[in-house]
Amino acid sequence: MVEYQQNILYTYYIRAGRNYVPARLRIVPKGRSPEERGPMQPQEEIMSVERTFTIIKPGALQRRLVGEIISRFETKGFRILGMKTMKIPLEIAEEHYNEHVGKAFYESLLTYMISDPAVVMVLERENAVDSLRKLAGATNPDSAEPGTIRGDYGVTTKKNIVHASDSLKSAKREIAIFFKEEEIINYTDSLKEWY
Ligand code: CMP
Repeated sequence: MVEYQQNILYTYYIRAGRNYVPARLRIVPKGRSPEERGPMQPQEEIMSVERTFTIIKPGALQRRLVGEIISRFETKGFRILGMKTMKIPLEIAEEHYNEHVGKAFYESLLTYMISDPAVVMVLERENAVDSLRKLAGATNPDSAEPGTIRGDYGVTTKKNIVHASDSLKSAKREIAIFFKEEEIINYTDSLKEWY
């Protein structure tokens, strides 16, 4: 039997219409495995709330697509925790894209990213990283499915329209590059109260 070393705090989310809401917090005592905890109720699904990071790139501002793109984020249920317009300094762009150093497109990517203002955002929802990647679509707009942001608005890979973090680890790293802690506002999701 697996012996668990720590108490584990699980947040359960249940589906409420088209949204997920926290159902309750449940403590699984030290030493008890998920098997001992007993089966989950059929209506319950575990979803983890994540933060992710996006850049609405300079071309989107020039083409007046910012509102349209943010609308897609909101419609998909993302909460906006941080957002600012900035002309990205070269050193920030270099840090953000350091994994691409040496690639053929690196220099032109940096030139594009610092050319004009961009909008950077911290977004939150359940399964945020994968969800935003799907919504953004494939990097190459020609391969991106219609209905995705890149599929609908992207024209070239080099000047694609949004960046979306590719993992939770990248999201944490990228958020820390662009945002100070106090620029990220955490708040209760009270969506249901407004309807
Ligand atoms: P982004 O999601 O911001 O992450 C890295 C960026 O590099 C990518 O979007 C594209 O804008 C760019 N990129 C990736 N691959 C290529 C490529 N083959 N040619 C030109 N640009 C690329």
